[in-house]
Amino acid sequence: MYKKILVTCALPYANGPIHLGHMYEHIQADIWVRYQKLIGNTVYFICADDAHGTPIVLHSKKLGLSIDHMIHQIYLEHINDLYKFNINYDNYYSTHSIENKELLISIYTKLKQKKLIYSDVIAQLYDVKHNLFLPDRFIIGTCPKCFSSKQYGDFCEICSTTYNALELINPKSVLSNTTPEVRMSKHLFFDLPIFNNILYKWINSGVLDYCLINKVKEWFNVGLKPWNISRDAPYFGFLIPKEVNKYFYVWLDASIAYISTFKNFCQKNRNVNFYEFWCEHSNTYLYHFIGKDIVYFHSLFWPAILHSINFRKPSKLFVHGHVNINGEKLSKSKNNFITANSYLSVLDADYLRYYYASKLTLGISDINFNLEEFVQKINNDIINKIINLAARSARFIIDKFSGYLSKKIFDQTLNNIFINSSNDIQIAFEQLNISLVIRKVIYLADLANIFIHNNKPWLLTKKNNYHDLQGICSMGIHLFAIIMAYLKPILPALVERTELFLNTKLVWVNHVNYSKLITSRINSFTHLAKRIELTQVKLIMI
Ligand code: 2FM
Ligand code: ZN
Repeated sequence: MYKKILVTCALPYANGPIHLGHMYEHIQADIWVRYQKLIGNTVYFICADDAHGTPIVLHSKKLGLSIDHMIHQIYLEHINDLYKFNINYDNYYSTHSIENKELLISIYTKLKQKKLIYSDVIAQLYDVKHNLFLPDRFIIGTCPKCFSSKQYGDFCEICSTTYNALELINPKSVLSNTTPEVRMSKHLFFDLPIFNNILYKWINSGVLDYCLINKVKEWFNVGLKPWNISRDAPYFGFLIPKEVNKYFYVWLDASIAYISTFKNFCQKNRNVNFYEFWCEHSNTYLYHFIGKDIVYFHSLFWPAILHSINFRKPSKLFVHGHVNINGEKLSKSKNNFITANSYLSVLDADYLRYYYASKLTLGISDINFNLEEFVQKINNDIINKIINLAARSARFIIDKFSGYLSKKIFDQTLNNIFINSSNDIQIAFEQLNISLVIRKVIYLADLANIFIHNNKPWLLTKKNNYHDLQGICSMGIHLFAIIMAYLKPILPALVERTELFLNTKLVWVNHVNYSKLITSRINSFTHLAKRIELTQVKLIMI
């Protein structure tokens, strides 16, 4: 029975370029989506720019552009970068859309009717020099729990405690480096604690990996807190109806954009049924790919909002760690802030996809982008083991047999080993254990190369044993085809070139499709992928 699946990535902020940290998430989600499509499921893959909030206002001021102009420019850059990495979104939209505004207001109205919103006057930190209430990420101070310095106003990266910015010791405004003033202001709150039992049941229902459950349970132990969904002007976002100068908090409309982006997609694709995917008892699946820093939001606020409006809740959160470059966090000051664009100006998109895939294990550990390891993986795996397998077999098939393959599988036992790996590889893809997929495929590539090595086709030309020569080299091409079929979700551009070379579309591997040779004639072998040098890779750092 085929599944219907909706997949999202976290929405990138519209105040800066897509960088290699973002790409880790978009690439893994895209691999998973392509795999699901390859095995026959119906998948819609959506994302949007997160265009609201104080940082957007400040960034546009810095650039001297109107906010609308800036978010439009950045939107164009984002879709261009994602497209060049072959991230195959069905819809990439924006939180600053009419659909999002309408949906947000209708959801807010519903929440109010259900008495899930209340107001309170609270103290907040205010930057007197810049005349604004400071967002949590614009306040830095010492963690009230573990006393680590230089922590943001909402969350300690050292001890993972979440707190209120007012609890920070010695807070400073990141904008002016002054000590902020405490000022009172009216705010609107969503009653999260009321959902305690529902959420507790939900987080234990298989939606989170075991390694996250304990962390989330700690938040329950401390007690869920009401969520402030309003912000004071100056702000960029949607105004709250019947309030004076209050805006919806960017995180509320950003999450609702998961729904409105899909709605916009359904409006353009009338055959797709919006309610089938979002109704309370939906038979479809909803997967969110997110970084570990936004688990609180996606495991508590978001399902609570969905529950309140009688919408379905997510089927699972795929949570990943962060990317470090040569052991350091991505940062402009450390000169390792590699944008998607600077990567693409030097290197092939598929190489980053492959490298990230090879690092993607279960769990939320951070990964390290190491330039030497990157070069080694691409050259050893893709070039030496995979492309070379095709090159050494294709040479004889083209020269001696005008591209025609033999009619028979030369080594049925080896072919069965390749096809029977399909189950394990499928499980690994399904669980997003993509590094395991790579390990299994490289093991197969090693077997294929040993097969060629043992059968030594280059000696057969001398012996004029053309029958075996054609059989062995056809087998080499066939095994290469199976390897590329397994890698199709990971290396879409390389597989497209491979399909032209093989004269056939590669489908998912099973006995029906691969027990016979997949093609009768190959095209001439042009180089499918290039070796890389460390000196070249270092250029992405500049
Ligand atoms: O953390 C971020 O980059 C946010 N822009 C993600 C928003 S995702 C959604 F839930 F709102
Ligand atoms: Zn701490």
